[in-house]
Amino acid sequence: MKNYDEQIKQYGWKGAEVIFDLSKEYVKAGERLIDLGIGTGLSSKLFHESGLAVWGCDNSEIMLDACRAKGFASGLKQHDIEKFPYPYDSGFFNHAVSIGVLHLLEDISATIAEVARLIKPDGIFAFSIMDREDSENSELILKLNHKIYRHNFKQINDNLKRYDFGIVKSQELNMPINKKGDGIPAMAYVAKKNAG
Ligand SMILES: C[S@@+](CC[C@H](N)C(=O)[O-])C[C@H]1O[C@@H](n2cnc3c(N)ncnc32)[C@H](O)[C@@H]1O
Repeated sequence: MKNYDEQIKQYGWKGAEVIFDLSKEYVKAGERLIDLGIGTGLSSKLFHESGLAVWGCDNSEIMLDACRAKGFASGLKQHDIEKFPYPYDSGFFNHAVSIGVLHLLEDISATIAEVARLIKPDGIFAFSIMDREDSENSELILKLNHKIYRHNFKQINDNLKRYDFGIVKSQELNMPINKKGDGIPAMAYVAKKNAG
């Protein structure tokens, strides 16, 4: 999906760069990373370039084919992240990322629980989310048939704490919705799994 990579550039979405910058002090070469909704691989390419071994899943074979063609992933699987369990062994990964994906899920708690199963203690889960004011509804229709879900800090933090994660970094992001730079508020979070 060459068009996808070009569109991301034109829209100026910086999610992957911001999340890598926030995460880099917690990861090291040789560790394993799972990218949930890896798409064409933009979200984990920087981790790969830092020496991590990247696995990914996505529910689109077209996106996975584009990622496969880049040749950097250690393993790619078609999988819907709303279906549990994910097809990996417990504790197989050191870290997880999910960028530009979780706003498609109404309920993120089962995903956070599953990430807690997949990664080792002291690993990080770094992700982007669409943000909202406490007074705003979660559901937002961007255009016909394109519904997204926004999650405020309390929802994120409560779910992370429930599965023994603590937020170590966060940063505001702008999620562009057109080439003019109009966007909606988003957040990048890095959460560390407690050593237990
Ligand atoms: C906006 S793209 C982001 C891709 C990549 N993470 C990046 O940062 O470039 C969203 C990706 O999530 C995938 N996706 C959406 N819903 C999914 C689901 N339920 N399970 C797995 N993948 C999903 C899409 O196929 C797409 O590749």
